[in-house]
Amino acid sequence: MELGLKGKTALVTGSTKGIGKAIANELAKEGTNVIVNGRKLEVVQQVVAELKKKFPETTPQAAAYDLSQDSQRQKLFKAFPQVDILVNNMGIFKPMNYFDISEETWQKFIDVKFYLPKMLAENFGRIIFIASEEAVMPQYSLTKTMNLSLAKSLSKLTKGTHVTVNTIMPGSTLTEGVQQMLTDMYKNTELPEAEWESDFMKHHRPLSQIQRLIRPEEVGRFTAFVASPYSSSFSGEALRLDGGLVPTIF
Ligand SMILES: NC(=O)c1ccc[n+]([C@@H]2O[C@H](COP(=O)([O-])OP(=O)(O)OC[C@H]3O[C@@H](n4cnc5c(N)ncnc54)[C@H](OP(=O)(O)O)[C@@H]3O)[C@@H](O)[C@H]2O)c1
Repeated sequence: MELGLKGKTALVTGSTKGIGKAIANELAKEGTNVIVNGRKLEVVQQVVAELKKKFPETTPQAAAYDLSQDSQRQKLFKAFPQVDILVNNMGIFKPMNYFDISEETWQKFIDVKFYLPKMLAENFGRIIFIASEEAVMPQYSLTKTMNLSLAKSLSKLTKGTHVTVNTIMPGSTLTEGVQQMLTDMYKNTELPEAEWESDFMKHHRPLSQIQRLIRPEEVGRFTAFVASPYSSSFSGEALRLDGGLVPTIF
């Protein structure tokens, strides 16, 4: 399906690996000019080169900025003042003790205030937060729950326009980080590597209906749809992509 994304510009935060890279890839496949973000210039440039090689008709660009730093965010806004699609993918996933979390950690967000007025002026735009089904780590669930609430509130500012704000909630996804987590969990056990994923799902995600990890490209494809003009009836939604983890109807 052609998603009508040719020539649009998308900033995908944290897109040098994992889910963000898969989203960048799927958007570029649709002809979108993707702004690739991560903290290391060489890595960002490498992903830009990969996208250019795979999708030569697009113009991927490098945005090597640490989004946890206000000064770096301002540089990003200056370099890329306008985007059609903003995917707020970069998140913090690190088990921490609640009482050890610093003030700084609580403040690591990207400022959507900057792009929304421009999208409204253009009467087209997509803001997509990548949240999560996960809710066990205090700082993680707080920021992810905040995504849902913020998307809902922001969507109310877009009434009657072609700008939408939504949240996607993926379940556990086989990114490089999750692969490493499996390795750390099982490397010193008797279990053969081929069975790590199913054992993890059975014991740690027993409610998942698909009983497998989601693949990053599955999140990428769905995000590309939500970024497209075809998703125009989704507004302020919390969209689950978690393999049926929630045992109730809603
Ligand atoms: N993996 C899962 O199972 C899963 C499930 C549900 C939701 N999610 C959510 O999906 C999103 C992506 O997760 P992921 O597992 O794909 O992450 P990941 O593989 O760890 O990738 C994180 C990306 O963010 C970049 N990054 C990290 N800190 C940054 C900063 N301060 N400024 C700019 N870029 C930064 C990283 O590049 P550099 O390190 O080079 O800067 C990398 O490109 C997160 O919001 C996560 O909470 C993940």
